[in-house]
Amino acid sequence: MGRIILANDGIAANAKLELEKLGFIVDTTHYDGEELEAKIKEVECIIIRSATKIRKDLIDIAVGGNLKLMIRAGVGLDNIDVKYAESKGFIVRNTPAASSRAVAELAIGHMFSLTRHIYISNINMRNGEWNKKAYKGIELGGKTLGLIGFGRISREVASRAMALGMDVIYFDVFGESSIMPECKYVEFDELLGNSDFISLHIPYIKEVGTVLGDAEFAKMKDGVYLVDTARGKVVSEEALLKALASGKVAAAALDVYEEEPTRNEAIYTHPKISLTPHIGAATSEAQNRIGIETINIVKEILL
Ligand code: MLT
Repeated sequence: MGRIILANDGIAANAKLELEKLGFIVDTTHYDGEELEAKIKEVECIIIRSATKIRKDLIDIAVGGNLKLMIRAGVGLDNIDVKYAESKGFIVRNTPAASSRAVAELAIGHMFSLTRHIYISNINMRNGEWNKKAYKGIELGGKTLGLIGFGRISREVASRAMALGMDVIYFDVFGESSIMPECKYVEFDELLGNSDFISLHIPYIKEVGTVLGDAEFAKMKDGVYLVDTARGKVVSEEALLKALASGKVAAAALDVYEEEPTRNEAIYTHPKISLTPHIGAATSEAQNRIGIETINIVKEILL
């Protein structure tokens, strides 16, 4: 049997070819349940996106097999029990830089979608409506954007927002950053109270839980716009729906959901929510870069 890499959630065609040139058999079948449990013992490396979860029980099954390396082809590592996997001797890696621009462009796109009613006028025109008067919007220029988290993606959002004439403030648990001094570090509550737009760029950490719930929405400016392209669970969907109903939040854009695919009808039918199905990193360029980073990790660890 040759050296097998399982790309359980798929992989860009160029990356598959390169890995094959390096001598690996690349299996791109998506396995679940017992099939995945059987497969994980055979392969040397498993590459996953967001669909596959690698939890303790699967990790225990992999112990003693051929598996050495787990690659999360993306940024978020919340679908792998990383500490547990590492404690069992597996190497876990992600591709942290590859998709920043793609996610940032989507976040900015959603802001335009909300302020100019692009998402909803598209739906209504398809129903034969011509609601010109209903779609008076606002401009992004001159508004304050509050970024929660100030990592790579957030800074890409910041530079685009500044180019559009927005003032950018941010909060990060690691404190003030020396990068991009033109953006102002503020405390969390100050960000909530002073932002016209809030965009989240943080991981979901189980021990921390929801970051925006009823109490945090109450501290926001009336008529704030919210964008979440990070992780669904950092925003309480229940609290968001209440804040939309009261007018505290003017409109929200979601690429990520508490549960995916979302089954929350109140969310996916809401007239003031612009929706995308977790496509932040889904550009050809980002997927190619993810492929290149993945190949480099495989070369570094397995060759
Ligand atoms: C990520 O964590 O990289 C993004 O959420 C994109 C994804 O993998 O679906």
